[in-house]
Amino acid sequence: MQNPNAWRQDTEYLNIVDDLLAHDEVQKLALYPQHHFSNRLQHSISVSYHSYLIAKKIGADEVATARAGLLHDMFYYDWRVTKFAEGSHAYVHPRIALKNARKITTISPKEEDIIVKHMFGATIALPKYRESWIVSLVDDFAAVDEYAIPKAYLTYFKWQENIARKMARVFA
Ligand SMILES: [Fe+2]
Ligand SMILES: [Fe+2]
Repeated sequence: MQNPNAWRQDTEYLNIVDDLLAHDEVQKLALYPQHHFSNRLQHSISVSYHSYLIAKKIGADEVATARAGLLHDMFYYDWRVTKFAEGSHAYVHPRIALKNARKITTISPKEEDIIVKHMFGATIALPKYRESWIVSLVDDFAAVDEYAIPKAYLTYFKWQENIARKMARVFA
């Protein structure tokens, strides 16, 4: 993703998420590595902000998208090490994130769907809202992007346009 700090200058975006960013529970996501070149806070902000831009572009609910996008990976363990009897990391961590998100803010049914279904593809429950599809797609791309930097990758505008175009087609 180009200019990973663009969100810092976007006051409209910041107004939507600043109460969440002010929480220690959100800030401490920075202590956990996510992909090769990012920590979990950087990853969460990246997914939130790019999902927000796409939601705005296609006329979806950018507030729910930005907020749930920011909280979608709110868990505090190293997924490479910690294993759960209840199921795979892909199944368990969205549910843990939802529980943690509820401790710091009110979560709407749409935001719940965004958080719980963000691993669609690895899990089978179908996202119910287009906002859930956006976050799930952006999360997939972010994983590749954060892993691949600085190897060749699609430019930010290209992939954002691609996702927006696909979404517009699906929900036309
Ligand atoms: Fe996740
Ligand atoms: Fe994620």
